[in-house]
Amino acid sequence: MHINLKGKKAFIAGIADDQGYGWAIAKALAEAGAEILIGTWTPLVKIFTTSWNTGKFDASRRLANGQLMEYKTLYPLDASFDYPEQVPQDIRENKRYLDVAGYTISEVAKAVAEDHGTIDILVHSLANGPEVKKPLLETSREGYLAALSSSSYSFVSLLAHFGSIMPAGSSALSLTYIASERAIPGYGGGMSSAKAALESDIRTLAWESGRKWGIRTNAISAGPLRSRAARAIGFIDDMIAYSEANAPLINKPITAEEIGNTAAFLSSPLASAITGTILYVDNGLHAMGLAPDSAALHPSPCLSTCS
Ligand SMILES: NC(=O)c1ccc[n+]([C@@H]2O[C@H](COP(=O)([O-])OP(=O)(O)OC[C@H]3O[C@@H](n4cnc5c(N)ncnc54)[C@H](O)[C@@H]3O)[C@@H](O)[C@H]2O)c1
Repeated sequence: MHINLKGKKAFIAGIADDQGYGWAIAKALAEAGAEILIGTWTPLVKIFTTSWNTGKFDASRRLANGQLMEYKTLYPLDASFDYPEQVPQDIRENKRYLDVAGYTISEVAKAVAEDHGTIDILVHSLANGPEVKKPLLETSREGYLAALSSSSYSFVSLLAHFGSIMPAGSSALSLTYIASERAIPGYGGGMSSAKAALESDIRTLAWESGRKWGIRTNAISAGPLRSRAARAIGFIDDMIAYSEANAPLINKPITAEEIGNTAAFLSSPLASAITGTILYVDNGLHAMGLAPDSAALHPSPCLSTCS
């Protein structure tokens, strides 16, 4: 049994390098035969396309059949805005936005419809919290709402604008993190709140998009990966070490490819009855209620099974 996405078109929002989950998902979808359309954050379009064109990503683009992953079209996207009139003047006049047009969600959806007609797979692999390093108690209202706007509402808006060009059976997918449901000190600035909102929206949107268009809507709750966004938060190496020490599956770091493979499955007809689900791809860490490597455990309650 194979995952076959031949003839399917996927729009992946949130790729600006070859290090993150968006890239890994694009690659897995391409491996399965899907055509790839990319949404790249407007200020990073130039650096991403330059890196792509100069061969910096060639090693990561290599598919199992030896060919390089290609994309059909890349769209500059700022998922914090739905319509052009919402873009504040300082952003419009910012040198990295000045020469770019049509990057709000409604405009990108319109351009994709004009260029490609329909899409079958929508992936939301983006998040941003300007105050992510601040504890929630020190987060400003502005910072909190910005995290929700970029990281949660962006998915609602993408689905609202793309839904009508997604045939029944299509898949919408987002990426979330366990900080939505457990306290993860250091994941601040309202980002934990944004992930909680996102997960709640997955369920409501599964109902609404299912009944309106026949679209399945799910999220992957991913384990820690050393992506550009995660490095900016500041303690990703500790989170990876913690996961490796305490998850049920040890000595097996979580790879972006594992999230990509799950995304390919969820986007395929094999997952035709799966919607409204948050699927953990985290070596099982979410299942733990105790950190076996805690210095407070004397003697360890799991001597025979902890390493
Ligand atoms: N890395 C982890 O450990 C981890 C764990 C669980 C969930 N996630 C989630 O995975 C998703 C992808 O993140 P990643 O860690 O792979 O990092 P990443 O840096 O590869 O992806 C984040 C992307 O969001 C884009 N972005 C930020 N603001 C944007 C905006 N306003 N409009 C358009 N694009 C914007 C960035 O340019 C970047 O490409 C995020 O939702 C993140 O929260 C990551």
